[in-house]
This record gives sequence, structure tokens and C-alpha cells, in this order.
Amino acid sequence: MKGIILAGGSGTRLHPATLAVNKQLLPVYDKPMIYFPLSTLMLAGIREVLIISSPEYIENYRRLFGSGEQYGLAQAFHIGAEFLEGGPASLVLGDNLFYGAGLPEMLTRARQSASAGAATVFGYHVEDPTAYGVVELDGAGKALSLEEKPAQPKSSWAVTGLYFYDQRVTDLARQVKPSARGELEITDLNRIYMEHGALNVERMGRGYAWLDTGTHDSLLEAAEFVRTLQRRQGIQLACLEEIAWQNGWISDDQLRARGVFFGKTSYGQFLLRLLDSDRNAR
Ligand code: G1P
Repeated sequence: MKGIILAGGSGTRLHPATLAVNKQLLPVYDKPMIYFPLSTLMLAGIREVLIISSPEYIENYRRLFGSGEQYGLAQAFHIGAEFLEGGPASLVLGDNLFYGAGLPEMLTRARQSASAGAATVFGYHVEDPTAYGVVELDGAGKALSLEEKPAQPKSSWAVTGLYFYDQRVTDLARQVKPSARGELEITDLNRIYMEHGALNVERMGRGYAWLDTGTHDSLLEAAEFVRTLQRRQGIQLACLEEIAWQNGWISDDQLRARGVFFGKTSYGQFLLRLLDSDRNAR
């Protein structure tokens, strides 16, 4: 399966912070925002990733990720409509952060469903659903309706910015017409899958964090969340080399080289600690 990260947009709600910089390159505490959605795709075992951004920022992504070989990615950086080649795909919005024990298993289920001819979206209970796509569920957890930013939401379940699609996605996406705000809405694509009876909704329950970073306050809150967990537990969130290494995509030597590259930063020290012979010490 291939992955797509949407990292475009003008980020007007974050002006003036995003006047000169693409939003997804802004730091969330100690790393660029795009590390988070990329780490989610990597946790799903996806090694071919397309980053879609505005032309003026492409060079920044190239500088950030190079060819992607340091993470064992086949294509970290790929542009072109032929990318999917008629296969299944996962799409993630470049400003969405996911965290939770069970996440890799949930992603694996979604991937398997995509191979079996269905799409998966992830529902998250929120205080104010009006800012999101909203899914209404029946007693068995099946989607009854999907609405984009409804004024009167039918449920408190927001649809997160992470989507898994089967190989029909390229064809079905062509059926989507621009919405009132002039955009092709992912919610309309998801509704097509729902109407085909091919939409799964996985609920991310209490043990999960889904954070978005659309405003100055939510960006700072996300940074505080990352900082709190990292400092308390001595771990790194969205550590791309760690995931690559645990997936067996890079060797111990490659991991060590990255640790040395990052030097005395806590990121670099964390990478080197992963290699300690006493694994219990991590
Ligand atoms: C987009 C989607 C919406 C989803 C949200 C998640 O909204 O259209 O359905 O709930 O991402 O972050 P947008 O970022 O365009 O406001």
C-alpha cells in the first residue's frame, strides 16, 4: 500500500506564523509537524509515500527528507498522478497527530480492509464536532451519515484526517464534485464508499489522542502534549528512525549513524539509547 500526505494549504488561520513557511514544517515542540503524519503511515507499514505541497515548499521537503533512505523508505518523496498505479492507498492530512497504544493494530486492520475492498475512517469523540467531518453511527458501529462541518451535528464523532482506501479510490475520487466552498471534500469520497456499503468506522476511544494544529492554541496544546509525554517517559513521539528500525527497514548501523548525526540533542541521544544492549533500560 502507498501513502499520501497532504501538506498544502495556505494556513491562513496561523498567520503571520505561516506567511513564509508551510504550516506542516512548523515545529510541534521539537520536530516538524509532518513527522507526525509520516510516522503514522510508517506505523502502518507504508514505505512509499507521496508528499503533496505547494511548489514553493517542495525544496524544503527535499531538504528535510532527502531520498528517504535514512528511514528505509522506497520513495519518501514522489510527485505525480501516476503514483497510486491503481492500488490501495492511505491518505493523511499533514497537520493531524495520532497517539495511542493499540494504534499499530488499528492501522493493520484498516490496511487489511483496504486489501479486502473497503475503506476505513477513524472516529474520535470531540467536544465541538462542527469544525470537522462528522459520522453518525448505528448501534453496530456502522456509518449512517457523513456530513462536513455540519451546523447541527448528528453525533459527537469527528472523522479524523486519516483514511484508508481500496484500489477503487482513484476511480471513485473522480466522481467527487467541488463543494460550496469550492473544494473537493474528502467527506464526499467517504460518503461514496458508505453508499457502496464499503466504509468501516474505527473508533479511537479514550486511550487515544488525536490532535490537530489548525490554530495557534491547538498548535501549542499539541506541543505541550508531546513535551509532557516525552519528558515524563523518556521516549520520543513520531521518531521516524525508531519506527524504521523496529520495522526492520534500517540496520543498527544506520540507526547509529542517525543518532550521531543528531548529536547531543535528546532526539540523537534517544536513537543511540535504542541500541543499548540492555534493552530494559530504554
Ligand atoms: C478536514 C476534513 C474534515 C476532517 C478534518 C480533520 O477538514 O475536511 O472532514 O474532520 O480535516 O482534521 P479541514 O482541515 O479541511 O478543515
